[in-house]
Amino acid sequence: MQTILEQLESKRAAARQGGGQKRIDAQHAKGKLTARERLEVLFDEGSFEEWDMFVEHRCADFGMDQNKIPGDGVVTGYGMINGRLAFAFSQDFTVFGGALSEAHAEKICKVMDQAMKVGAPVIGLNDSGGARIQEGVASLGGYADVFQKNVLASGVVPQISMIMGPSAGGAVYSPSMTDFIFMVKDSSYMFVTGPEVVKTVTHEEVTAEELGGAITHTTKSGVADLAFDNDVQALIMLRRFFNYLPLNNREKAPVRPSGDKVDRMDMSLDTLVPENPNKPYDIKELILKTVDDGDFFELQPDYAKNIVIGFARMNGQSVGIVANQPLVLAGCLDIKSSIKAARFVRFCDAFNIPIITFVDVPGFMPGTSQEYGGIIKHGAKLLYAYAEATVPKITVITRKAYGGAYDVMASKHLRGDVNLAWPNAEIAVMGAKGAVEIIFREEKKDPAKLAEREAEYKARFANPFVAGARGFIDDVILPHETRRRICRSLTMLKDKKLENPWRKHGNIPL
Ligand code: HXC
Repeated sequence: MQTILEQLESKRAAARQGGGQKRIDAQHAKGKLTARERLEVLFDEGSFEEWDMFVEHRCADFGMDQNKIPGDGVVTGYGMINGRLAFAFSQDFTVFGGALSEAHAEKICKVMDQAMKVGAPVIGLNDSGGARIQEGVASLGGYADVFQKNVLASGVVPQISMIMGPSAGGAVYSPSMTDFIFMVKDSSYMFVTGPEVVKTVTHEEVTAEELGGAITHTTKSGVADLAFDNDVQALIMLRRFFNYLPLNNREKAPVRPSGDKVDRMDMSLDTLVPENPNKPYDIKELILKTVDDGDFFELQPDYAKNIVIGFARMNGQSVGIVANQPLVLAGCLDIKSSIKAARFVRFCDAFNIPIITFVDVPGFMPGTSQEYGGIIKHGAKLLYAYAEATVPKITVITRKAYGGAYDVMASKHLRGDVNLAWPNAEIAVMGAKGAVEIIFREEKKDPAKLAEREAEYKARFANPFVAGARGFIDDVILPHETRRRICRSLTMLKDKKLENPWRKHGNIPL
């Protein structure tokens, strides 16, 4: 018995040591935590239960049979985050550069299977040189097994990826199929082909950071949702983020009671929208003044800034916020913003999170680059996402709601549950100037006449009452009562039930 216990302890010690002190020191020297240190920060103290500490790879080529490290480069298990269950895998860069072997993949698949059985989120802390080169195709098979599980888990349990080191080659496709990707600045990167291959094929000279660092993916590509300064900040923010989500698609997100009164009025909102309809204002001011405690967890803040997305709470309940941002491109919908918002709407819908939409949109972005880029197809993604969503949908039009973009932004016609408008809202096919230039083309030579027509059009259509007369708007509300009206609507919608017709799956315009 004594020998077994000693054996156990020495195996555990070997696993905890990973690739050895020298490599741990190298990891620290890069400003990175080790795989286990990361799990300690992520989970409630002492709550993490590790599985498969004794798993070893089965590769015998290239002398690998003499080189086995218990755990095989990934720490897996489950624990509690603020008292709620989550599964995780944390790749250990000190062991073969965190490269994925067949056994390493099996460990990841095991926690994913278990998470699906019990209905709990899966969090991946990625830090890996990719496929374990010595294993060849066995490693590729392992990746594909993980991909398949990512797809089956999609929409069933939330999946979150935190990229904390390299993620290169086909390996990027596991994180990319999860719901959210977060990255750590300066120490993480993601690309399908690295700088060397890029140089050979396209003759572009680019660093790993420029090609696939956290700033690149949160500003240029939109692949990642947020970039954090370091490992500790990233993991602490991930704990905060986790609180907005339900454990699975059959549950609701936890309610966090707040001292912020549901009927709190904010008089300053009455002057938020400038008199001049062409003058911008910051929609984030409305968001912060409306949600519980001004607490808004924004996603992708530096990508497609003409639309704002993120989580907040209203009356303690998690909500997804989508808002046109008049400060950027006048809040127009373009390719990037449509895709950004569509994916977010679909996440909220999959996980029972009500969607609050603030609308100030002059339309879709015109131009050849948008048309050639496929704005028709990409804009349709957002339309599809809103139309398909069955969660409570509350819409507040703060100013412009023009044209197709009016329809798209959670309008009544797309089964919006509560559609409200501020008194200065303009719900029309287009702005007055553009409209009269088309329908009174022959009067273009007479500016005075045209101005008269414009004023006439404005008086007739640039208000919320034409839509109100048809019941497309449920009520015209004063800006200062926005919070109260949304909170009441959410209470009314608490037990909303709506199902789409049975089908294998829809065919969203991809
Ligand atoms: C086996 C690997 C490895 C790998 C790194 N190591 N990548 N071992 N398979 N893929 C080992 C190194 O040999 C080294 O071992 C240790 O990990 C640390 O690596 P270093 O190179 O010293 O670290 P660093 O300088 O930080 O560079 C990290 C790196 C580099 C950029 C990730 O290691 C690298 O380029 N690795 C190869 C990446 C790659 O081409 N992977 C395959 C991609 S294709 P020692 O013993 O010296 O500590 C792919 C296909 C997936 O992943 C397909 C899915 C469908």
